[in-house]
Amino acid sequence: MTHEIVVIPGDGIGQEVTPAAVDVLRALELDFEFVEADAGDAVAEETGEPLPQETYDLAAEADATLFGAVGETAADVILPLREAVGSFVNIRPAKAYPGVDALRPETDLVFLRENTEGVYSGHEDRLTQDVSTLTRVVTESASRDLAEFACEYVSGDDHDGFTIAHKANVMRETDGLFRDTVAEVATENGVETDEVLMDAFATHVCLDPAQFDVVVCPNLAGDVLSDLAAGLVGGLGLLPSANVGRDRALFEPVHGSAPDIAGEGVANPAATIISAAMLLEYLGYDDEAAAVETAVEATLEEGPRTPDLGGDASTEDVTQAVIDRL
Ligand code: NAI
Ligand code: MG
Repeated sequence: MTHEIVVIPGDGIGQEVTPAAVDVLRALELDFEFVEADAGDAVAEETGEPLPQETYDLAAEADATLFGAVGETAADVILPLREAVGSFVNIRPAKAYPGVDALRPETDLVFLRENTEGVYSGHEDRLTQDVSTLTRVVTESASRDLAEFACEYVSGDDHDGFTIAHKANVMRETDGLFRDTVAEVATENGVETDEVLMDAFATHVCLDPAQFDVVVCPNLAGDVLSDLAAGLVGGLGLLPSANVGRDRALFEPVHGSAPDIAGEGVANPAATIISAAMLLEYLGYDDEAAAVETAVEATLEEGPRTPDLGGDASTEDVTQAVIDRL
């Protein structure tokens, strides 16, 4: 069966790392059809529209989408695209790879972040010159969807349950509902959980990341805490992510368009190539996904490396090294 993969490179280094990941996917010679689509600052400048309807429709219909990064229009592009694929969970692994100079080499975490609501549900108002407000939305149904996914995620041999990170001591109604629902679903499924206040988590994860494994959290907390974890494992150039829905999914590096290095051909393609490995796994190509991840790991360990990891190789050199190892 042919899988249609929509590819949205976007802006800046998105134009460099996305083709790199597509080259790796092509090297596997699977039955994939790639369809490229525009989004971001550049297309907005041309047409006034950062996310053309055609791109939205393609992502809403495709088996999977690979997204690079966009610039200042990020919120106008990525939030609707996550909605287009019906994504209710954002999977963000943060793992320190051998050979990478990480602050905390023992880090091996996965964040399962709520992906539709919380403070990102878009209900902001400017009431007066002085006062602005934001309405935080938490629903039992979205918390339940996330929790059911988390229970399935940890059902393999590698995990003992998960940690719920929240701030229900202050946001008693919203995070209270989140925590209670997630814990209840875990109990229904016989999954062990523990919980931690999200601010305390920030300290604990820096001091001793090995005590955590899978962390389930609300939207903003997942955004911030996963970037914190990126700092522990050696930088944004290494973090992949998946936005998973019921019938389709969108895969993207955690980093942005990196205007400071865009156009130089030195962006680290690892995050996007690992995102492509997550795409392979999602479509059921488990062996190919593992092979890509192994090839990336070997390349990170033995080189060549891009400047962000202390090397002097180009994006192309690293990509070719991954393909050679495949
Ligand atoms: P950024 O992730 O683009 O860059 C932060 C720092 O990390 C920069 O020094 C950059 O050079 C470095 N970096 C990031 N990815 C790298 C890679 N693959 N290889 C080597 N170095 C890498 O975040 P920043 O600077 O805060 O935002 C830049 C633009 O990206 C902004 O316009 C922002 O709105 C957008 N953005 C878009 C996102 C998306 O499309 N999902 C996510 C985050 C930011
Ligand atoms: Mg972020």
